[in-house]
Amino acid sequence: MKVLVTGGAGFIGSHIVERLLQEGYQVVVVDNLSTGKKSFLPKDISFYSMDIQSLDLNQIFKKEKPEIVIHTAAQVDVNSSIKDPQNDASINILGTINLLNCCHEYKVRKVIYSSSCAVYGVTEDCSIKESFSISPLSFYGISKFVVELYMKVYHSLYNLDYIILRYANVYGPKQSASGEGGVVSIFCKKILQQESPIIYGTGEQTRDFVFVKDVAEANIRAITKGKNQVINIGCNEKTSIKELYQLILSLNPRLSITQPPINHPTRQGDILHSRLDNTKAKQILKWEPNYTLKEGLEDTLNYYRNELSI
Ligand SMILES: NC(=O)c1ccc[n+]([C@@H]2O[C@H](COP(=O)([O-])OP(=O)(O)OC[C@H]3O[C@@H](n4cnc5c(N)ncnc54)[C@H](O)[C@@H]3O)[C@@H](O)[C@H]2O)c1
Repeated sequence: MKVLVTGGAGFIGSHIVERLLQEGYQVVVVDNLSTGKKSFLPKDISFYSMDIQSLDLNQIFKKEKPEIVIHTAAQVDVNSSIKDPQNDASINILGTINLLNCCHEYKVRKVIYSSSCAVYGVTEDCSIKESFSISPLSFYGISKFVVELYMKVYHSLYNLDYIILRYANVYGPKQSASGEGGVVSIFCKKILQQESPIIYGTGEQTRDFVFVKDVAEANIRAITKGKNQVINIGCNEKTSIKELYQLILSLNPRLSITQPPINHPTRQGDILHSRLDNTKAKQILKWEPNYTLKEGLEDTLNYYRNELSI
């Protein structure tokens, strides 16, 4: 079976590609390399360097005829979305409409979409079910949600099946510092270089950190399981930013960091608390996180130790 992955050269996309290849799928990647890297992909992969907004996108569909599309390409930076909402909407909304038109025209069987917990935007400390109210705090959260609505209408009008995966804060090897959830990669790099990271706000804000290999697995499951559903992908566990910092420090006992983290004011659009109920993922995708935060962080730290030659 052929699977087209948009954003396949990115952090999450490249882990999905790796798992797809392990499972024996034929894989095609479309990525404009705005944040992704070709080096994240195997050399012999079928790769198209193209923007999802391009009107030539349909030529790739015509040639490759994918049965499944895994859509991860996006503008992923919350701050950029606040500075330039138009660019965020162009890529995330208009780019996806272009993609969905191709999926419809070339009769793709199912689209699996990387959505985000940013659509909830809650500030209370609770476990969020998929039915929770939608109230994004950033333009990024809006654009991720608007796409969900488009997917539902493409389904009702054209029978294009979908699975919407709303990720918690994804972390792991290959993550860049700028995207959603980049705090883990920033802390890992800073701590390994024996520097103090910045903590925005009090550091008491909590996140539900989910390891990227678990997220890739959820995408693999969504190819064969579930239809036309919205599913949270998270660990349903909360970790404060301060706790995260201490945990990463404790995994590096031989490093000595004398200065405490630097405190900066809260950033606009930042969510106070976020923790996702994953009951639906367990029921529908038969998915649950395989990695504890400590295991995932050890894997991530090893990657950065290698990258930084430490
Ligand atoms: N990282 C997280 O914690 C997180 C959480 C929730 C949801 N998500 C979603 O997961 C998806 C992947 O995010 P990521 O963290 O891997 O980010 P990433 O920036 O590493 O990956 C995005 C990929 O899309 C490509 N891309 C961007 N704009 C494009 C365009 N116009 N045309 C073609 N390719 C384009 C980039 O080059 C990159 O390879 C995104 O849809 C994001 O919204 C991420």
